[in-house]
Amino acid sequence: MVRIAVFVSGGGTNLQALIDAEKRGEIKSGKLSLVISSRQDAYALTRAEKAGIPSVVVARKDCAGQEEFEEKILEALSAHAIDMIVLAGFMSILSPAFTARFPKRIINVHPALIPSFCGQGFYGLKVHEAALAYGVKVTGATVHYVNEIPDGGEILLQKAVEILPDDTPQTLQKRVMEEAEWILLPKATEMVAAGIGKEKDGHL
Ligand code: GAR
Repeated sequence: MVRIAVFVSGGGTNLQALIDAEKRGEIKSGKLSLVISSRQDAYALTRAEKAGIPSVVVARKDCAGQEEFEEKILEALSAHAIDMIVLAGFMSILSPAFTARFPKRIINVHPALIPSFCGQGFYGLKVHEAALAYGVKVTGATVHYVNEIPDGGEILLQKAVEILPDDTPQTLQKRVMEEAEWILLPKATEMVAAGIGKEKDGHL
């Protein structure tokens, strides 16, 4: 079984989608084994607790620098024998040194159709504000591998979502989550876990 860590910073609705998918048997190649939160007050931690998944808080502001932050994360990953990382609304930056340690082992969900509205500074509601300000009529979500380029790794899955005339950043965020993110993220997680599982078993 591929041991999966989910990195969160906020409400954790994508974490919840993963928990629910695992319960339904849709994530059968992996096990949600650890939640790492960059914030002590993230509601995602309550979701992890309710689901019986161990969690660790590693806050960037409590660390002397990026190196210490990532060392603490690496310690937690190794203590829980993690094989794969899912970034689900994780709002801290991971350095190229960190991502290079896990080639094709980290995936991320981004609330837009990459390469639109992505990269440095595009996260959370800001992404939807930018899409509305530009006036695009279609947006969506993307799940991609994470490499050293912010939102620049190979795309795994994408789904388009219509923008409605009365949308606010909040209504658009909710529709993108419901119609795209919560569907794509569990699907991509199973896809990638299945591949890693085969490698672990020596079938690749
Ligand atoms: C989600 O919309 C996710 O795509 C986005 O933050 C939100 C987290 O919500 N992530 C990014 O913007 C990363 N660049 P959640 O905590 O309820 O899953």
